[in-house]
Amino acid sequence: MNTYRVGFIGCGGIARAHAPGYRGLRNARIEFVAGADIDPQGANARRMADEYGIPVYKEYREMLDRHALDLVSVCTWPRTHCESTIAAAEHGVKGILCEKPMAISLSEADRMIEACAKSGTSLAIGHAHRFSPQAVKARDWVRQGEIGKLELISGHCSLDLMNNGTHVIDLIHFLNGDAAPVWVMGQIDRRRKLEGRSNHPDMIMEDMAVGRVEYANGVVGLIELGERADPSFAFKLVGTDGVIEVNRPNGPTLKILSGFRQRGWFAPDLPDLPPAFQGELEELVDVVEGRATHRNAAPNGRRALEVIMGIFESSNRRCVLDFPIAAQDFVLERMIREGVV
Ligand SMILES: NC(=O)c1ccc[n+]([C@@H]2O[C@H](COP(=O)([O-])OP(=O)(O)OC[C@H]3O[C@@H](n4cnc5c(N)ncnc54)[C@H](O)[C@@H]3O)[C@@H](O)[C@H]2O)c1
Repeated sequence: MNTYRVGFIGCGGIARAHAPGYRGLRNARIEFVAGADIDPQGANARRMADEYGIPVYKEYREMLDRHALDLVSVCTWPRTHCESTIAAAEHGVKGILCEKPMAISLSEADRMIEACAKSGTSLAIGHAHRFSPQAVKARDWVRQGEIGKLELISGHCSLDLMNNGTHVIDLIHFLNGDAAPVWVMGQIDRRRKLEGRSNHPDMIMEDMAVGRVEYANGVVGLIELGERADPSFAFKLVGTDGVIEVNRPNGPTLKILSGFRQRGWFAPDLPDLPPAFQGELEELVDVVEGRATHRNAAPNGRRALEVIMGIFESSNRRCVLDFPIAAQDFVLERMIREGVV
């Protein structure tokens, strides 16, 4: 088993969730080496330094210059995901788990992918729900034809597209076998003009978003986020011969109603999987060692971002948009600048 030297860029809440994930790895030994946080005297940085006995630098470039790291967790706010990922790749890091959303624009996502390809760095994006037992089991059911031919997946959540929305869209993609999106129609509302909420203090956000996406396999994705959406992170998959519900509140996290089973709703025992962050990191080690591809590989993270940008741009232009989405900027920011929302 190889030993990996680990560093954190951003030492807040999600870095503290990655850390036990590293600790639990069954396919590698790890050594926590250093962290970086723009507020090195703040509670987050001090907690990281105390709990793991590591130095925390103010500048992530200084951390990368001083320490030869193998794995880096990019756990900053969204606007710095791109530059810090590229810096880690340029320092020869073997694997990066960058938190969601991958970046704030498709051009940034492409620069990250290009930099990692150049340095041979494996880049995964933190859409951790792909590792939840209920999502894995639901996807298996779909593949096994338990609800016939999949026709529609709806998903919703609280907050905005760039925050929880990227999880909703990415999980729809996972449940749909990562089929390519073909077209999108979207609408957003931004009457409250929100800026800097919760763990995205550097972001702007819409109050509510809806999107309809059609995928190359004919499946339709319906996405609802924000103010008037059902706030639960829940999904309904409708097929020609049944329905699967994932994470519906006040019930089992997974259940199925299918003509094949013919016995009403059925809630299965879920597969015994490691916690999601551990699963993500174990798969990253497998990729670095050439044994696997990552289900959260950067192109999948980019695809979720492309649907988000498609919803913004469709709302901006009031029309259906075909993929690929041409906009290379942070579309919501442009809409605000131009007074559209
Ligand atoms: N995968 C998930 O389920 C999940 C859950 C929560 C958060 N996240 C994502 O993780 C990211 C961080 O969220 P969080 O909850 O940890 O936020 P947080 O505010 O708790 O922590 C972020 C930390 O990053 C530091 N930071 C910001 N910019 C920096 C920079 N340029 N260099 C170094 N440090 C910097 C901040 O000082 C802060 O300590 C967000 O993108 C968020 O969407 C993902």
